[in-house]
Amino acid sequence: MSATYRQHAPAKINLFLHVTGKRDDGYHLLESLVCFTEAGDVLNGELRDDGKITLAITGPMASPLSQAPAEDNLVIRAARLLQQEAQTTLGADLILDKRLPVASGIGGGSADAAATLRLLVDMWKLDLGTESLSRIALSLGADVPVCLNGKTTLMSGIGEKLNDFPELPSLPMVLINPGKPVSTPAIFKAREEDGFSDENLWDITAHYQSGAALAADLQECGNDLTLAATSILPEICDVLNALAREEGCLLARMSGSGATCFAIYDTTDQAEQAANTIASAHDDWWITPTQTLSEQASTLSNIGASFLD
Ligand code: C5P
Repeated sequence: MSATYRQHAPAKINLFLHVTGKRDDGYHLLESLVCFTEAGDVLNGELRDDGKITLAITGPMASPLSQAPAEDNLVIRAARLLQQEAQTTLGADLILDKRLPVASGIGGGSADAAATLRLLVDMWKLDLGTESLSRIALSLGADVPVCLNGKTTLMSGIGEKLNDFPELPSLPMVLINPGKPVSTPAIFKAREEDGFSDENLWDITAHYQSGAALAADLQECGNDLTLAATSILPEICDVLNALAREEGCLLARMSGSGATCFAIYDTTDQAEQAANTIASAHDDWWITPTQTLSEQASTLSNIGASFLD
């Protein structure tokens, strides 16, 4: 029996997201504090020696991806690009367990692409160097480098400048998606008249001992894509209100270009209670209680530990 490799693809949460400018090529300059959650997709893979790359998609969110052309899938694109750059004749049978909603602002596709790079670097025993891998990651999407980094990061540029951030306490969270995909380019286009935030508003050296202290400082920031996203999908306001109304909520905010929103709660029990209460009133929303990954857990999920048997 051949060995199975596994990588987790944690959801990416933009604790704040400021749009600070726009490049001549149309990409926006961002500043964002990014962390990752236990909730995520899972990628499994087995080695092939004939160079072929196959992908099967399973899990509760598989359906929209299974209907799209395989060439568009970020897992396939990441695998082919890595194969080409590394000039390897090896291939892989990949299985993506899709648990995160697609096109939803928590980096599902980017997280899957990053997990693919990590898994295949390990499986194919590649020694590409961080710079080459980061370049490959960025060419797959602006959020792929931060997902490859996999730990709490202050991200800037269009997503290529990464500063590791002092470890945060694990934050009890609820993620909610109202069940409708939103297009990232459409959101950026809709905010064209909104102007830009100042740069360097966040103290890169700050240490936080509690979720409450972090949430208090996050209240001074925001997500500059929220107004545009709610103008396209007003249901996002309902999600934010539902999260904020529950006991123990320290902060409720949209992640990325939406439509997924997150809330930080004071305790794990409060997060679970909030998820249950909201789920009882909204059976068409995707609702997940989770918590952010500590540095140790994210390192384990990202590097090594991928060889299963
Ligand atoms: O890089 P990615 O494929 O995730 O970006 C999707 C689209 O989102 C881009 O084509 C662009 O319109 C917009 N975008 C942007 N500035 C960024 C990231 C994405 O304008 N920093």
